[in-house]
Amino acid sequence: MNEIISVDIGHLISERDGLNFISPSDFNALEKKYGHIFQAFQMSLQEKKSYLTLSLDEERAIPDIKSLAKNIAARYEHVLVLGIGGSALGARAVIQYLKGPLYNLIQQEHPRLFILDNIDPVLVKYYEEVIDMGKTLIMYVSKSGSTPETAALFIHFYHRLKEAGGDPADIVICCDPGDNGINHIAKSLGCRLLHIPHNLPGRYSVLSSVGFLPAEIVGIDSGQLLEGAHMVHQSIISDGPQQNALFALGASLFELALKGKSIHVLFNYSNLLSEFGLWFVQLWAESLGKKQSLANNVVNAGTTPLTCLGATDQHSILQLFKEGPGDKVFGFMKINHVADEIQFTNEFPTEKEYSYFAGRTMQEQLHVEQLATEMSLVTDGKPCYSITLKDVSPKTLGGLFYFFEALVVFTANLWNINPYDQPGVEEGKNITYSLMGRQDYSHKKSKYEQEVSTYHEERRIYSI
Ligand code: PA5
Repeated sequence: MNEIISVDIGHLISERDGLNFISPSDFNALEKKYGHIFQAFQMSLQEKKSYLTLSLDEERAIPDIKSLAKNIAARYEHVLVLGIGGSALGARAVIQYLKGPLYNLIQQEHPRLFILDNIDPVLVKYYEEVIDMGKTLIMYVSKSGSTPETAALFIHFYHRLKEAGGDPADIVICCDPGDNGINHIAKSLGCRLLHIPHNLPGRYSVLSSVGFLPAEIVGIDSGQLLEGAHMVHQSIISDGPQQNALFALGASLFELALKGKSIHVLFNYSNLLSEFGLWFVQLWAESLGKKQSLANNVVNAGTTPLTCLGATDQHSILQLFKEGPGDKVFGFMKINHVADEIQFTNEFPTEKEYSYFAGRTMQEQLHVEQLATEMSLVTDGKPCYSITLKDVSPKTLGGLFYFFEALVVFTANLWNINPYDQPGVEEGKNITYSLMGRQDYSHKKSKYEQEVSTYHEERRIYSI
């Protein structure tokens, strides 16, 4: 396989079952229906008018990021990244894919790197048992600088750093360039500042300093991540809808959503991809789950993303996938080539449950099980697509991030919604600010307190 990503959408289409799949004639008509939207999308990428392409220009930030990472790696044993949502999930996916799920347990020349994305005091205490603040660099990542969870974590660990005698000027702050609290703090403490392009939203920021600095700190070449993104970008803008993987998949998923396939499952057949699955869930859900269209109509757009892990979840949620409601479309993702193959030895030749393994490999088994699962779902009337990744390399992963970001934005264009905002999460944030006593939200405090008290009165509690 020469290409870094290959996409097979053949089993989203079926001649026999036009109810659960797209019929061949409907598939052939997709270009006529949506080709003009795709061409406009291609144009926005080509002319670098789409926010996605801001990542491609992050190349210029890489030399400074590399030298900062080198400096950090030489001076610190631990790096603690504080962030949430798009400020945490992408970096996690990068490290898991390229350094493995047990990176922090393996003895190595690079610092151990922890990404903390919740305000659970129990979790924080556990981190504190493992991390020596005297040997830890803090990287505070928040595009807006106002996210209350990350702000809370920063306050706490800033205090701990001072207690441990650390230098606040060593803290790295990664945020929007705007005039806000986080930039004021960075300047007054003399912290190292990395700015995320203003129009690059949090969940699309993995291919910027948000993902690049953690990657470089653990020894991953961020230039290669970006090279993969450039390759995918080039392929998306070059091919017409007929030959275009992005058009074929995006238009088909949209068509299936209109047919009632309201859940989009990404079934990853590699433990290197489970964090990528969580990144996908956030990107898909927050970008496509929108009440209003750009024309201000109520559309309640989107499909619900789910991610699971093969082969493990074949012994769990697969039963529901097979026999539960037919409201899902499945994406299977696997890696074609992994460096560490395991060949089975012939340990129990007389036992039929064990002898057939002899000479086979574990990756072969994983791929056979993936295929078997996919085929059995298709047989049962469940539409499936599959993505094969060439290898475990930064180039392939960078391409994959860009492919999914582009897929989401193109799908949003089909829904005619804004993929970059998240109005649905603002209300909860405002209530939190107000109830926690943030000054500029004090005018709403009594209203929210009243609502909270009514809410409590409406509870019906059964005690056991
Ligand atoms: O995609 C988004 O904009 C959000 O999911 C953010 O990433 C998340 O809310 C964290 O925001 P911030 O980076 O501003 O702290």
